[in-house]
Amino acid sequence: MSDLIEIPEAPTATAAAVLRRDFANLRQRVYGHPLAYLDNAATTQKPDIVIDRIHRFYATENSNVHRGVHYLSQQATDAFEQVRATVANYIGASPSEIVFTSGTTHGVNMVASGMAQRLQPGDDVIVSALEHHANIVPWQIACERSGATLRVIPVDDGGVLDLTAYGELLSDRTKIVAVGHTSNAIGTINPVSEISRLAHEAGAVVLVDAAQAFAHGPVDVEELGADFLCFSGHKMFGPTGTGVLFGRRDLLEALPPFQGGGDMIDTVSFEGTSYADVPHKHEAGTPNIAGVLGLGAAIEYLRGLDWELIQRHENWLLETATEQLRRLSGITIVGTAPNKASVVSFVHHKAHPYDVGTVLDRMGVAVRTGHHCAMPLMERYSLPGTVRASFALYNNGADIEALLAGMHKVESLFS
Ligand SMILES: Cc1ncc(COP(=O)(O)O)c(C=O)c1O
Repeated sequence: MSDLIEIPEAPTATAAAVLRRDFANLRQRVYGHPLAYLDNAATTQKPDIVIDRIHRFYATENSNVHRGVHYLSQQATDAFEQVRATVANYIGASPSEIVFTSGTTHGVNMVASGMAQRLQPGDDVIVSALEHHANIVPWQIACERSGATLRVIPVDDGGVLDLTAYGELLSDRTKIVAVGHTSNAIGTINPVSEISRLAHEAGAVVLVDAAQAFAHGPVDVEELGADFLCFSGHKMFGPTGTGVLFGRRDLLEALPPFQGGGDMIDTVSFEGTSYADVPHKHEAGTPNIAGVLGLGAAIEYLRGLDWELIQRHENWLLETATEQLRRLSGITIVGTAPNKASVVSFVHHKAHPYDVGTVLDRMGVAVRTGHHCAMPLMERYSLPGTVRASFALYNNGADIEALLAGMHKVESLFS
């Protein structure tokens, strides 16, 4: 490849190469090129142990949970509830505070819908300008239903939230602050502990959208000051259709259920229904049992990793990709916060993001293009969208070289 820019090997390359072996899907070629998978913010690849766990459940353990007295059902229930304990332990919570969901979107909607029943005209809900639509639209619906007002923490040109403006938005009218841990669109890691501290001083409850946090390191709900926290299994090397809503026990008890049905009740009669204790009150119907077991395997996998080493590796990926892209002509990086996850969003001065994505795809490079479900943020920067390369622990220098070769090709085609 004549356009190949050779970059020196990462000091952490060996560790990443060992981890990469756990992900069979990365070994394929796309249009004759080795796959450079740089769409990890959309979904991460799954290690073999996650895939094997799901297969093992269906092959040898399949049964419904919480309902049967028979051996298989009890075995499935034990394994399912064991994952609840694993998740709780991983994030510093207790099992009764862990609600299984289908993903972050589901979790935010559960809280927003429940809170809508308590919000009133004159109350404020605060989100930030960096949010994914999943942490905007449910709050808009809650505000429409209740008459509360949605307020937005502004973001500066580099992608950093304006905490002075946030302080001015907070008041005794603020009932909830719903903020992302890490921006999927431009990578900013928000000072969530500080945001929570200020919210609590104002008497508000804090919901953290942690969808983008778990692939880059462990998360501790206490440290973040989260009252609610949502995440998706598929963005942390686990299966799609799985997720977690963490909620402080008293808040989960006060939250009305989002759905009614089997498994979430204590007694039912036509005169009325009493609900099961939390967390089961919030888990109506048959859950995604195989998925939850796969999520448990993903957490076990994450637990076994050397995060200090991985974070060094991801920082190297972020810095190297950013520096090399800056050297190419016609590229502007969008999002330059000092505290960033390994996400590089950029635009080319002549080529539309969609065209860039198409050229890169033909060279085996998987990136995401468009508004990244963050249209208000794109509007803030007067952009229709960006090209986003999002890295994970298994990415390497060759992936960056492929991205750079692709951008050379874009430059030659469009300039
Ligand atoms: C920051 C953030 N929040 C929420 C979501 C929604 O996650 P899911 O589609 O898994 O519910 C995403 C997905 O991209 C995200 O990046």
